[in-house]
Formats: sequence, C-alpha cells, structure tokens
Amino acid sequence: MKVAVLGFGTIGFGVYRMLEASPGLEPGPVLVREGKKKEPFQVTSLQEILDDPGVGAVVEVMGGVEPAFTYARETLRSGRHFVTANKALVAVRGLELAAEARQSGAAFLFGAACGGGVPLLHNLALAVKTDEIRSVSGILNGTTNYMLHAMQTRGMNYDSALREAQTLGYAEADPTADVTGMDAARKIALACAVAYGLLPEGGLDCEGIDHLSARDVADFQSRGLTCRLIARGVPAGGTVAAYVEPVLFGAAAPECSVTDNYNMARYEGRFSGPMVFMGQGAGRYPTASSVLRDLSGIQAGQRAMLPPDCAAVQADNDRESHAYYVRLGADRAADLPVDRLLSQGETVRVITKPISVHQMHVYARKERRAGRELFFAAVEG
Ligand code: NAP
Ligand code: HSE
Repeated sequence: MKVAVLGFGTIGFGVYRMLEASPGLEPGPVLVREGKKKEPFQVTSLQEILDDPGVGAVVEVMGGVEPAFTYARETLRSGRHFVTANKALVAVRGLELAAEARQSGAAFLFGAACGGGVPLLHNLALAVKTDEIRSVSGILNGTTNYMLHAMQTRGMNYDSALREAQTLGYAEADPTADVTGMDAARKIALACAVAYGLLPEGGLDCEGIDHLSARDVADFQSRGLTCRLIARGVPAGGTVAAYVEPVLFGAAAPECSVTDNYNMARYEGRFSGPMVFMGQGAGRYPTASSVLRDLSGIQAGQRAMLPPDCAAVQADNDRESHAYYVRLGADRAADLPVDRLLSQGETVRVITKPISVHQMHVYARKERRAGRELFFAAVEG
C-alpha cells in the first residue's frame, strides 16, 4: 500500500523512514508547506496527493484542527484510508470523520494520538469487542513526565526541563497544551470514546504542571512523594468522569518508576482485570511505530477505532473525590476542608479531606481568576 504523509516534522520524517523499510508499505508523496519543498517526493497541495491513483492511505502528522480536518474529510471522501497522530483533530472533529469513513468504507484510525508508542487505543479497540471496560487512566503526556522526572532527579528548573523536552521532539509545536494538561485531556477523551463509546467534549477539569515550582518538588521529595500528571476516565451514570491532574505517589507506586518521556497507561476490564502498558509516550520513532501499527491494521482489515454509536457527552466529575495536597495563601486555607496542615507561614501547604474532583478544580480556577496563586495535586491512596 502506498502511503502519503501530510507534514514532514518530527513524526512525519519518522513515518517516511519507517515506510521505506516496511514490507507491504511504500512511501508516497509528502505534503510540505508552500516554499518548503526540497525533495522530489514532496508536494505542496493535497490535490496532488489525491490525483495520484496509487495512493491508498494518507497519514496526517501536521497537528492542529485546520486544515487537518478539511484534508482528512477530502481524503476519506476520495475513498482512501486516513490515519492520524493528531489528538486535537480527533478530540474536536473525530465523530464527523468517523461518519465520513463509515460512508466511504475507508478506515479512520488514530492509535498514535494517545500514548505515542504505547498501544493503549489499539488494545482498547480490541478489548471492547469481548470485555466491558471499567476504567482507563495513566500518565499520557511524555513532555510533562520528562519535566517532572528531570526536576525531581536532576534538580532542574521548570523552564530548562521544558526546553530539553522541546529539543528532544516530545513537546507540541506550542507546548502550552502539554504543560496545562490539555494534551493529556484530549488523549483521555479519545480513550473514553474508544472504551465506552462516549467522547467527553468541551472543557474537562484539567490541571497541568504549569503552577508547579521547584520548591514544590523539593517539598514532595522531603516527604518521600513523587508527582506524576495523571489522566483518568471512568463511566459515570450515562456519561463519564474525565479529568487530568497532578497526583502524588508514595515510593512503592509503579508510577514512580515511569521516567523520562515514558507513559504508563492502564485499563481495567470486567473480565481481563487490570492491564498496564508502558513505553515511550512521545518521540519520533515510538510515535511513528504506532502510526505504522494502524497501517498494518488497515492491511489486516481494521476500519475503525470508534464504536459506530459513539456519542459526545459532557463529563461529570462530581462523583470522583480525593484528598488533595494544596499550596495556597494562609488567608485562603479556611476555604478548604483541611485535614492536616503541613507547613505554616504566609503560604501554607495542607492536605484536605476528600473533596470532589470538580469542586477542587473549580476552586483553583476561581482563585486564579482572582489573581491568587496555588498549586494542587491529588494524594494517591
Ligand atoms: P512538528 O515537528 O511541528 O511537525 C509538524 C510538521 O507539519 C511541520 O513540519 C509543519 O511545518 C508541518 N505543517 C503544519 N501545517 C502544515 C500545513 N498546513 N501544510 C503542510 N505542512 C504543515 O510536529 P510533530 O511533533 O511531528 O507532531 C505532529 C502531530 O503528531 C501533532 O498532531 C502531534 O500532536 C502528534 N504527535 C506528536 C508526537 C511527538 O512525540 N512529537 C507524539 C504523538 C503525536 P512548519 O514547521 O512549517 O509549521
Ligand atoms: N506532546 C505530546 C507528549 C506528544 O509530550 O506526550 C505525544 O502525544
């Protein structure tokens, strides 16, 4: 199968190289921006790709919602298979693309859009055929995991850790989505769509690591705790609870051994019990290998990852609750149901009694809108 590639950046280059080396697959034309064409195999319009009758599938690795959505729709309408690593595209327009694909009989797969090289969606799509998925969760962003690990083990500051993750090709073109948790939120939305046929839309409760300081990291370390950014999605009465937040783990937790750009994704099936997948969650070849896994699935007859009746829902995070570690102004501590005061001063650190996830996130958003700084993380266990 001849495969065209849209975008020739970190992942596009890796996909092209892997296509050259994969029996049964061959690289086709590669879309680059006008003025950036350097090689004979590069083209500057989608039409040149659609005009090539030999192209059987198109891989999109440009990022962003437009023009990626328009190119995806045109590809599917031409009857060609469409594979993407672009979680923003699938989270926002995935249901429309799935409908287009069903109409044309072409495949629409996006395994690389969640977990980089980690085969979470591939396995979930298989598992739902014979099992009932009861929860999906995990470390789903490589950039922030790399940063957290570097800050904790090398004493690196936030900005230097982010710069390293960008240099290594892990971060998005605009890393805001990584550090605010939005990238992980899109990924958990896709995992919920595959696992439950429910795609949580709109603003999920989403806390990243952009309010984390080196002093916070030193404080967790002094208490034997490790911080990881966790995404979680569970069915909740016809909808889902779906959210992203930093979580503090004790030393025995497997999450503490997830280093660098690695991800650890979990699901729990009614029959399979807990399943855990770990591997590189970002980076050129791990992600390209996930794209190639989709292409090989197409060759084996796979056409969809989303269930045909997949529907958009509003997440409900009021049913989930945790105790939280919160760093905030001493004058604000009475706003929360404090269980333990960890440190005193103008700024205090507290552990709350269990409160609903939504309540904690709403409180943090309200405080920040009022110009008051705070950091929070759920406390595991
Ligand atoms: P990247 O290095 O920025 O590459 C994207 C490439 O696409 C750039 O060369 C960009 O050109 C090009 N491009 C963007 N819009 C275009 C357009 N309209 N026409 C032609 N070319 C266009 O990004 P990446 O890291 O490869 O990521 C690509 C996608 O994969 C994103 O959706 C990302 O979320 C996803 N992904 C990335 C990773 C990872 O580890 N990096 C892992 C999993 C999924 P310019 O540079 O000129 O803008
Ligand atoms: N920026 C993303 C991450 C790429 O760091 O996880 C993989 O989706």
